[in-house]
Amino acid sequence: MSFEIVPIDGQFAFEVRGLDLWRPLAQDIVDALEAAWSSQGVLVFRRQALSEEELVVLSRRFGDPDLIVRDDWQSGNHPAVIQISNMKNSQGRSIGGLGSGELGWHTDQSYVADPATGSVLYMVEMPRDNANTYWANLHLAYEALPDAMKRRIEGLRAVYDYLKRQSTYDDEKPMSEELRRRTPPVAHPLVNTHPVSGRKSLYLDPTTTVGIDGLPEEEGRELLDALNRHATRPEFVYTHRWQIGDLVMWDNGFLLHRRDPFDAQQNRLLKRTTIRLSPQRHIVPSTTTPIAA
Ligand code: SIN
Repeated sequence: MSFEIVPIDGQFAFEVRGLDLWRPLAQDIVDALEAAWSSQGVLVFRRQALSEEELVVLSRRFGDPDLIVRDDWQSGNHPAVIQISNMKNSQGRSIGGLGSGELGWHTDQSYVADPATGSVLYMVEMPRDNANTYWANLHLAYEALPDAMKRRIEGLRAVYDYLKRQSTYDDEKPMSEELRRRTPPVAHPLVNTHPVSGRKSLYLDPTTTVGIDGLPEEEGRELLDALNRHATRPEFVYTHRWQIGDLVMWDNGFLLHRRDPFDAQQNRLLKRTTIRLSPQRHIVPSTTTPIAA
């Protein structure tokens, strides 16, 4: 099968043309996609048509699909598939998560000690007025930092708390004790090194971070605010204008993303898998050291 990987924003987002993702992919194609995914971060495929089973089969070619803590977002058919949607079922219950509100800059799974860092998002139904999704590249952001800031943040860890993240979502019930038990605060290094290229990258998540491990609260917050402002400057950002059938893969090890709000009266449905990418080929921030008291 002949295919090409073409830059679409001149920086880090690439469109892959010529592949039908519902068909089995040859190993050399998977290897080429893996390499582009791990080094560039965002891969866009247009005009796809996948069942949930096919989405999981595709995802498995890159790593084990992970079950995220939000089992209330799972599709009824496949536990590894979650639904991102504002739609409700006939009993008035949400069929997925994240509603129709704006989603601020965040990194999927950052609130997990050992995060599964691959996300695959497939657009099934969308509102007329669209709602763009944006990705910010944290390699580019790191490389553009002044040397003094690079020295200041080396070795520091940010603290992530899902309680903060959940408070930003539409339509959420208060956190259950069970969900709290499964999402204690965790810490991850602010700077990681790519295992293949050796490039350094920031790891951030303004929607979820509550401070810097070991720094006074205000100092930690100011430092994170400065890094977040820097990292989301327009020159580091790719804007995706969705079409039905788009499938986007991104690497949360070195990308932030956010989404525009949309009209709650219109339906939007995406299916997502979360993949445990290999730390030999991708940045996987993981920390077992306890957070300082
Ligand atoms: C997400 O943040 O995972 C969802 C993005 C979107 O709804 O476009």
